[in-house]
Amino acid sequence: MKEEKLRELLNSLSMTEKIGQLIQVPGNMLNAEGQELGVRDELGIGEELLKNVGSTLNVVGADQVRRVQEEYLKRSSAKIPLLFMADIIYGFRTVYPIPLALGCSFEPELLHRLCAATAQESVAGGAQVTFSPMGDLVRDARWGRCLESNGEDPYMNAEYVKACVEGFQEGLSEEGAGKGIASCVKHFAAYGAPEGGRDYNTVDMSERRLRQDYLPSYRAGVEAGCEMIMTSFNTVDGIPSTGNRWLMRDVLRKEWGFEGVVITDYAAIAELIAHGVAKDKKEAAYLAMEAGVDIDMCTGCYAGSLEELIKEGRLSEEQLDEAVWRILRLKNKLGLFEDPFRGADAAAEQEVFLKKEFRALAKEAAVKCSVLLENKENLLPLSSGTQTGAEKSAECMDGTAGKADKIALIGPFADRKDALGMWAIHGDRSAVVTIRQAFSETPGLDFAWTEGCEALLPEDYADLPALVERGERSYWSGEKREKEWNRAMALADGADVAVLAIGEDTVQGGEGGSRTKLTIPGDQMKLLREVRKRVSKVVVVLFAGRPLVLDEVKELADAVLLVWYPGTEGGTAIRDMLFGRCEPQGRLSMSLPRSVGQLPLYYNSFSTGRPYDGKTPNRFFSRYTDCPNTPLYPYGYGLSYHSASYGQTQLDSRTMKGQESITVWADVTNTGSRDGVETAQLYLQDVTGSVVRPVKELKAVKKVFLKAGETKRVSFVITEEMLRFYGKDMQYRAEPGLFRAGIFPDSSGKPETEFELI
Ligand code: NOJ
Repeated sequence: MKEEKLRELLNSLSMTEKIGQLIQVPGNMLNAEGQELGVRDELGIGEELLKNVGSTLNVVGADQVRRVQEEYLKRSSAKIPLLFMADIIYGFRTVYPIPLALGCSFEPELLHRLCAATAQESVAGGAQVTFSPMGDLVRDARWGRCLESNGEDPYMNAEYVKACVEGFQEGLSEEGAGKGIASCVKHFAAYGAPEGGRDYNTVDMSERRLRQDYLPSYRAGVEAGCEMIMTSFNTVDGIPSTGNRWLMRDVLRKEWGFEGVVITDYAAIAELIAHGVAKDKKEAAYLAMEAGVDIDMCTGCYAGSLEELIKEGRLSEEQLDEAVWRILRLKNKLGLFEDPFRGADAAAEQEVFLKKEFRALAKEAAVKCSVLLENKENLLPLSSGTQTGAEKSAECMDGTAGKADKIALIGPFADRKDALGMWAIHGDRSAVVTIRQAFSETPGLDFAWTEGCEALLPEDYADLPALVERGERSYWSGEKREKEWNRAMALADGADVAVLAIGEDTVQGGEGGSRTKLTIPGDQMKLLREVRKRVSKVVVVLFAGRPLVLDEVKELADAVLLVWYPGTEGGTAIRDMLFGRCEPQGRLSMSLPRSVGQLPLYYNSFSTGRPYDGKTPNRFFSRYTDCPNTPLYPYGYGLSYHSASYGQTQLDSRTMKGQESITVWADVTNTGSRDGVETAQLYLQDVTGSVVRPVKELKAVKKVFLKAGETKRVSFVITEEMLRFYGKDMQYRAEPGLFRAGIFPDSSGKPETEFELI
C-alpha cells in the first residue's frame, strides 16, 4: 500500500480501532487451538476492542494462522490484518544449538545463515515477527536465560545480534513480500544483569557501564534495521524499562534513530504496579505510553485506560497516532494489506520444514558450537573400527588402528529427545537425533547403552513435585532405579570406553530458571564417580544451558565435550566429533567458574587498585582466600583435535596517528598431525584512560583453517574506532596514550605488544 493510502487508513480509524492496534492478545482469545482459554475476562478487553486487536503471539502453523486471520477479518470493523508474532528463538521446526552455544562459534555468518533458514520455515508456518534475537549481555551463570544470550562479550554480542537481524529479515524489504520475518531485538535494556542472577530482579549499574557493555548489542540490532524492540522486565537506574522515557525516547529513538515498533515484554505494563511506580493500571498505561511503548503485550492496561487518558488530556491523540502509524507501517512492509496470510501455506510447510539443508546446517552448527574442554592424552577421537585410513585420526592414541573400542553409552542424555533448551517451543521433538540413535546407525560400532539414573531429583528443582503432580514428569520406581543403576555398572565393567551423556535438565534453565548451585543434578555425578572406577577411558558429553561448575568433572573425566543443547542434529554431530569425522570447533562464549561464589565472572574486568598475581600469600589484594580469581576455563577457550602455537604479536608501527590505522599480526602454526580450524582472537588493553579501562577487550576474531604442520600469518587492522570508550565526560572517543595488543587462542593471554595513539 502506498504511504499516502496508509495515512488515509489511519485517519479513517475510530479511537477504538486505533487503540486496538496497540494491543496484543494471547491466541486463546482469538480461538487459536492448543492455547488455554479463559484469559479474556482477566485482561478486561471488551468485545469491540477484541474485534480490532492488532496482534497475537505464538499462534503458528499455516492452517491455524489462516483460520484465525480469516475469522478475525470477518469480525473486525477496521479490516486491518492481524499481526502474528512468535518466540522463534533458535529455530522453528528445525532446532539449532541454543544461542549461548552459537556464541561459541565465533562465526556471526553462521548465525546469519541459520536465522535466514529459520525465517523460511517460519514464513511457511505463518509467523511474521520473531521475538529474537536476545541481545542481553550475561556475566552471571545463575541466571537461567544465559541460555538465550550469545555470551559475555560486548563486541561479539553486537556482531551476533546484527547477523541475526540481517538473517531473519533477509528479503523483507523486497517487492512482492513473503520473504523473511521481522526481527524484534530484546530485552531493552540490560535484562541480563539481574542482581544475584535471579530472574526479573533489580538491575542497577552506572550509565557508563550500561553504555559501554550492555547497550552496544541492542544498538547493533537497530543499526542492522530490526523492525521491533522489546522492553525488559527489570529496572534501569530505579525506573522499570517499560516506563523508562529516557531509555526509549532519548536513547533508542533520539540518539539511535529507531523508527520501528516498541513492544513490552509479557505483562510488563501491569508489572509497573508491582514494581511500585504506578498505583493502578491506568497510571501504568500512562507511564508506558509516555515512555514510548507502542504495543501492550497481554495486559488490559492500554485496553482499559488509553481512551480515558486521552479524553482527560493527559495523553494526546497525536501520541496514539504515532504509535498506530508505526504498527501500520510494519504491517504494510510485511505486505499484509495485499496478502493477510503472507506465506502461511500448508504445502510450503511440507517442503521446507526440516529440509535436508536445514538439518545439515543444524549439524554444522552443533559441531561449530561444541567446546572440547578436556582431552587428556588425546583420548578423542575414538576409534569406531569402521573408519578408513583417511578418516581415522592420526592422533588416535590407542594404536589399535581399526580395532573398535567397546563403548558403554550411559546417562540420562544418551537418548533424550527433549534436550533442546527451554525456548524451542515450536521445534519438532520427534525429529531430534539422539546420541543413541546416531550410534545405532553407525555400522560396526560396538556399543550398548542405558540411562543409569534420572537427570533430576526434587532437591535440584523445587517445582519438580508440582511437575510430577501435573503429570508433566514422573519419578522412577525404586525397582527401575536399581535396575538401571546395575545395568550401567555392568556395562561399565565390560567396556573399553565409557561415554557419559550427562548434564543440566532443560527445566533448570531458561526463563525463571535461576539457580544457586551450578552442579550437575540428580545422581549423575555419582554415576560419573562409579563409572570412573570401572573404566579406564571416560568421555563426558555434557549438556547444559549455562556455565556449570565443573571442577570435579575436570578431575574425573579423560575427555569433556560440552555440547550445550545442540539441537535437532545433536546426536549426529556428537557421534561425528567423538569418532573424529570432524573436530569440535567451539570456543567458550562465557567463562566457566570454579565456584558460584566467583559470580559475576567475566574476562574483561577492571584490574582494581590491588590486582592479584595469583601467587603472593598476602590477603590485602583483590582476591578470594579460598579460591583463585581465575575461571576454571576462560572465555574464548576450547581444544581441538589438532594443536596450535601462536607466535609473538607484532605491529607494523608503534604509533598510531589520529584516524590512521595500524596492522597487527601473529604467526599461527598447526603443530598437530590433523588439519583444523584455529579461532585467533585479538585483545587490546588501553593502559591508562580518564576512567578505568578493562584489563583486556576482544576487538576482532578470525577463524583460520590450517593444514597439519602449516603456519599462517593472521593479521588484523587496528582502527581508532576500536579504541573508543565513554570517557570521564561521557564522550565516546579514543584517548591518546599507551595501548597493548595480543593475538591469542583464548582470553587468558596478556596483551604485551605496545603501541601509542598520538
Ligand atoms: C516473556 C519473555 O521474557 C520474552 O522473551 C518473550 O518473548 C515473551 N514472554 C513472549 O513470549
